[in-house]
Amino acid sequence: MKRVITYGTYDLLHYGHINLLRRAKALGDYLVVVLSTDEFNWNEKQKKCYFPYEVRKAMLEAIRYVDLVVPETCWEQKRTDIHKYDIDIFVMGDDWKGKFDFLKEEGAEVVYLPRTPEISTTQIKADLKK
Ligand code: CTP
Repeated sequence: MKRVITYGTYDLLHYGHINLLRRAKALGDYLVVVLSTDEFNWNEKQKKCYFPYEVRKAMLEAIRYVDLVVPETCWEQKRTDIHKYDIDIFVMGDDWKGKFDFLKEEGAEVVYLPRTPEISTTQIKADLKK
């Protein structure tokens, strides 16, 4: 049983997110999504979520590739999450390429998947404003 973990905000869920989750799950058997809380987003990324945490969580839980959704509240938790959830593979989109290679020290394989072109939550918000 291979256990995979990935992190993100997943606000205004879109097909780029689904593509990422599908490929992440295909790398193993069980997928944990660590979902940024509203506070973490605002305090650490200066991003205001459109959908609150509980709504974003419920939508992720409805996706067939996702087995567990837990909160992301700080940058440092990645090291401990690897052990807490008994993780084999850490996955992120390649906008984060190289940033989390240090997790290999915790025994996880680190994989960066190519982003789906031309879609992002930021882009959707900008397009709707036009
Ligand atoms: N992702 C992806 N392809 C996209 C958009 C996102 O593969 N077109 C991936 C990201 O690399 C990340 C995960 O989906 O691993 C969650 O991304 P998130 O940052 O929540 O979404 P974005 O749409 O990139 O949001 P924002 O524009 O606010 O950064």
